[in-house]
Amino acid sequence: MKVTFYGHNCFLLEGNNAVFITDPWLTDKGAFFGSWYQWPVNHHLKDSLIEKLSTNIETILYISHEHQDHFDRETLKDIQPYINKCIVPDYADKFLYNEMLALGYEVIELSDQSKHYFNKDDYLELMIVDTGVNHDSAALIHINREFFFNQNDCKIFDRLAYLADLDINYYAVQFSGATWHPICYQMADYQKASISKKKVMAKLAAVRNAIKLIKPKYYLPSAGPAIFPFLEESLSFGIDSIFIHQSDMETYLKSAETEFVYLKPGEQILNNYTTVPIGPPTAADLKVMKREFLCEFETISDDDFNINNLVNEVCKRVESIKEIKFGTCPIIIFDWKDKGLEIDLTKGTVDIVDFSTYEMPSSFMKISGSKAYFSLMSNPSYRWQDIALSLRASVQRKPDMLNTFVNIFLFSDPSNIRSGFTTTLDVKDDRIVVINPKNGKNYEINRYCPHNGADLKDATVDKEGNLICPRHSWLFDLENEGRCLTAEASLYSKEIVETITLCDNLSARLLTQDK
Ligand code: FES
Repeated sequence: MKVTFYGHNCFLLEGNNAVFITDPWLTDKGAFFGSWYQWPVNHHLKDSLIEKLSTNIETILYISHEHQDHFDRETLKDIQPYINKCIVPDYADKFLYNEMLALGYEVIELSDQSKHYFNKDDYLELMIVDTGVNHDSAALIHINREFFFNQNDCKIFDRLAYLADLDINYYAVQFSGATWHPICYQMADYQKASISKKKVMAKLAAVRNAIKLIKPKYYLPSAGPAIFPFLEESLSFGIDSIFIHQSDMETYLKSAETEFVYLKPGEQILNNYTTVPIGPPTAADLKVMKREFLCEFETISDDDFNINNLVNEVCKRVESIKEIKFGTCPIIIFDWKDKGLEIDLTKGTVDIVDFSTYEMPSSFMKISGSKAYFSLMSNPSYRWQDIALSLRASVQRKPDMLNTFVNIFLFSDPSNIRSGFTTTLDVKDDRIVVINPKNGKNYEINRYCPHNGADLKDATVDKEGNLICPRHSWLFDLENEGRCLTAEASLYSKEIVETITLCDNLSARLLTQDK
């Protein structure tokens, strides 16, 4: 297959009988209301991409998930006439499917671990994560007897074992982070730097383990980092943040069996592909981008804000989770300086508050932003997840611990908030046994991670006795009842005294199978 990179997570894979394109994001308007931009820039390549797609053989588009740096309406509109079929994951929430239909595509929904053949030999197989607020997918694409595994930013690291038996030629996966924690959180710079470093190291460890397991011929870093010309400069430089650049990761990830390929947008893997990692933009690059591009967020005015519209949007969400029992959780506070909203998910109440007289609750998550920011949240056409990723809010929480239900509430659409709560509550209750290398003792724990249901049978346990979830690296203290050190959650670990012999290569014994 011929592999051409078009920036971020957009790859064009050309075979004899089919052409595949993934997640095209080539607009010059960036994403998330003009906060994120592609690096290096790629919008000038749209015409040449369209030319490549104007072929007589079948062209297939794959969209991994609905984040705007993967699902870019503008590019999708422009390339639609040249695409024969579009593959999307069959997420429970039909947002992506309906949007692609509305754009005029012939859409095929594929379920987890299923394949769609485009001719006798060429196919695409999907792996899907669809729990809580996480809708994500990875695609194994087979063309001309070669495999391209595009994992993009799908944290499906706990499910890659079966790929080890395949001869994977190309492996594309994100190595940098992409969330609003800790960037938007109110804390000292040294704390942000230290949290970012931990997150970066966890992500790099997951990618390094995946490369070791899959042993691809080529690793293609992709799906980030984005840059942020209209936000604080240090964010684009990757300094003390989760948005590290290729030049920061090479020494940590290098593997003897895999070649690292640093394609710039428009480049192909030929005999002499780029072997030098791409560094961050310079201050001058950012200046040019600021001059040439229009930031959408800066076109929104505080006058667009209407408090009743915001209350309606919030109530719609609170209403949809009304009778679900999920225990108590911190109060959510929206703050636009003089006034705000107090949202109590446990009681199902939404109240307008005046901060001159308001007493802060003992446990809360406060989102502060401009009226323009909350005008976006009041508009049913915009998704709260996209608004959060504009990185324009300032967040404070007490205690400083992630609460899954607050998180789902803030990152869901009205159409999927209920399923986000129920799937999270629905984690299966199998138990497994793991060995704690710190003291050599055996611990019985819940098999599935309370965050997003990752199977912990292949989790690692560090020297301090903390179990590390393979998907998002939450830490659980085995000696302290499996208490999570990252969020309010537990694996309910229990030391067991019976002697256990584990089979070779198995880090955990499955109690449900053995008993
Ligand atoms: S599934 Fe996210 S940390 Fe375990």
